[in-house]
Amino acid sequence: MDRVNATTPAAPSDDPAGAAFAALRTPEGEQLLAELRDHDPADELATATRLRRTHPAELVSAALGQARLRQRAVAKFGAEDAYRMYFTPNGVEQATRTSVATHRAARFAGLGVRSVADLCCGIGGDAVALARAGISVLAVDRDPLTAEVARANAGALGLGGLIEVRCADVTEIDTSPYDAVFVDPARRGGRGRIFDPEAYSPPLSWATAAALKAPRAALKIAPGVPHEAIGPEAEAEWISDGGDVKEAVLWYGEGFAPGVFRATLLPSGAVLAAPAPLPAPPVGPVGRYLYEPDGAVIRAHLVAGIVERCGGRLVDETIAYVTSDARYSSPYTSGYEITDQLPFNMKKLKALLRERQVGVLTVKKRGSAVEPEELRRRMKLSGPNAATVFLTRVAGAPTMLIGHPLS
Ligand SMILES: C[S@@+](CC[C@H](N)C(=O)[O-])C[C@H]1O[C@@H](n2cnc3c(N)ncnc32)[C@H](O)[C@@H]1O
Repeated sequence: MDRVNATTPAAPSDDPAGAAFAALRTPEGEQLLAELRDHDPADELATATRLRRTHPAELVSAALGQARLRQRAVAKFGAEDAYRMYFTPNGVEQATRTSVATHRAARFAGLGVRSVADLCCGIGGDAVALARAGISVLAVDRDPLTAEVARANAGALGLGGLIEVRCADVTEIDTSPYDAVFVDPARRGGRGRIFDPEAYSPPLSWATAAALKAPRAALKIAPGVPHEAIGPEAEAEWISDGGDVKEAVLWYGEGFAPGVFRATLLPSGAVLAAPAPLPAPPVGPVGRYLYEPDGAVIRAHLVAGIVERCGGRLVDETIAYVTSDARYSSPYTSGYEITDQLPFNMKKLKALLRERQVGVLTVKKRGSAVEPEELRRRMKLSGPNAATVFLTRVAGAPTMLIGHPLS
């Protein structure tokens, strides 16, 4: 692998953001950052006024900005890393969270991948996880400040020996020396989130071609990517963490399963996978139990797999609620016992909740336009009991299902 660290350009000093970042990395900047670690954003004005008495104003605003970004980054990176790392507003927004990046790095490492070209590295969320899995990384980003921040992060986390950061356009990179390629295109433009995969930077078609040239590859894509955009050479994986779908990734090359769709649930690592598409599942009446599949299972179109496993059926052909008469438990679903089924009617629901003395109502919905908050407000809840209401369609008809979670 060629190492060109010494020739990689640093952020230009005539770029104000680059200069502000360089100032933050001086002993004075680092001291300010340490002082601001636990600052309360509500006191920011007073803090800034106090610090400006003894430090240059630009340095104080750069440090406050960075301190704010670190606080935001805790949710993705955990406090221990976030307070050692550096961020840009876009960088923290677009970075892969540690749990997902670690999972992906482990899949590569498990197949014997020792070096990865991380194309579009951002502030280095994935590069860090790959390096921690023992993989050498060439991390490439065309934005000079972002590349500089990635380089700082590699150093701050003691991974400088494994991560080489290069400021370049990914289309100019020769990836042939690497065991694998990872591409995480920018999916946000000046006007917010980009939905068309060809409008990603670089476009999905470029990323796919780069992936197919490499022995192994992974492409990070939006979880809502149209399934038609996924080529037959890819294994597609949807990943959720704590029940929220975080991303989708397309895998290419030896060791992956072309044409297979897979749902991975973190933190357990439970995996559901099947060749796509699965046959349409049966539809039928609501039974004693109702199951809400994890979002990754739904996005991967694997709900039919849940129906088969629990010996159940869908409540409606267009709705991802599964029902069965016998109790089933799995890591891929949240289960509920259903006590009542009513045609959609606010008054009837209110009367029923009053009779049951329900003071706490969880509202779930699929295929209903009702706003949960508005519904809760109109119910005028009071009483010692809790219940869950599902607003959905059953065989096409707007329906309310009332029940409680299975323990
Ligand atoms: C989604 S972010 C990467 C996030 C990263 N995986 C992480 O976890 O921190 C995409 C990055 O791609 C960079 N980028 C977009 N087009 C590029 C290109 N043609 N060449 C190099 N970098 C590019 C952007 O500057 C941005 O930092």
